[in-house]
Amino acid sequence: MNAANIGIIGVGKLGFSLVQGLVKSGYPVSSIHVFDKSKSMLDRAAELGLKVCGSLEELVSFSNIIIISVRPNDVEGVARELAKIRVEGKKVISTAAFVSLRALEELIGTPSVYRAMPNIAAEVNSSFTALSPPNRKDIGIEKIFSYIGVVEWVDEQVLDALTITSSSTPAVVAELMDAFVLASLRAGVPLDVARRSVAMVFQGIGKLAEQKELWSIRNTVATPGGTTVRLLQKLYEHGVKEKLLSALVEAYEEFSKKLGEYREKEAKKE
Ligand SMILES: NC(=O)c1ccc[n+]([C@@H]2O[C@H](COP(=O)([O-])OP(=O)(O)OC[C@H]3O[C@@H](n4cnc5c(N)ncnc54)[C@H](OP(=O)(O)O)[C@@H]3O)[C@@H](O)[C@H]2O)c1
Repeated sequence: MNAANIGIIGVGKLGFSLVQGLVKSGYPVSSIHVFDKSKSMLDRAAELGLKVCGSLEELVSFSNIIIISVRPNDVEGVARELAKIRVEGKKVISTAAFVSLRALEELIGTPSVYRAMPNIAAEVNSSFTALSPPNRKDIGIEKIFSYIGVVEWVDEQVLDALTITSSSTPAVVAELMDAFVLASLRAGVPLDVARRSVAMVFQGIGKLAEQKELWSIRNTVATPGGTTVRLLQKLYEHGVKEKLLSALVEAYEEFSKKLGEYREKEAKKE
């Protein structure tokens, strides 16, 4: 494998799932360097055999591709450090929510800046990762994120929307799955069987949904007068789909408002 040297700044929840996915895909550990403020996070990364750097300078000198994976409020500090170290000729990718490409370019002082919005399924090579900007598609960057799942180049506004509809939804899906597990337990299914069956149903229907329309999956299962149609009727009687949709839309609207305020602050700083 002709592997690019990757430097990851921040190996917390997301950064660590990225490195786990890369390592599982066979990406050479010697080509991944990491840096984090937190010693416990670095120790965890070192256990995977990754090279832990003692400073940002060390990470930058090793890397062709630099991934910033710190919380949004910490991005400015990291970006200013990178500007001082100088990263000309290197590609910088931020996974942070909120912080725009424009702000990153201003702070780092290089136009080779990208944003990526993956999710924690990167750990099992099943992330959906939005990359931006699409008018500067980069094969090298696309390849790296392809090791941890599926990649799509999108406009920055779409990437922002996916922050909540794709990167936050693993938490919602986990809650939904938990309801299925509880219902199975209530019906007398042993816990380990319930967990595995629910995991497989979500995984299997996820795969089917890549190829088939959702209504067609539903209609295939729901036979006339059968158990499934009665189950679906119960869901409609309880307003489950409407309530879920309203909750998701409300959460997205709150996120959009916060993003708008964040962008106003960014514009004032320029
Ligand atoms: N978690 C997700 O599912 C997810 C999905 C998509 C995108 N994201 C984005 O990914 C970014 C990271 O999220 P996360 O959930 O992984 O956060 P996290 O678990 O808090 O990890 C961030 C790590 O970066 C470290 N850090 C902070 N400032 C640093 C600096 N100046 N230099 C080096 N390391 C530094 C933190 O250390 P301390 O804790 O000691 O400060 C922490 O270990 C966020 O911007 C988020 O918007 C997250």
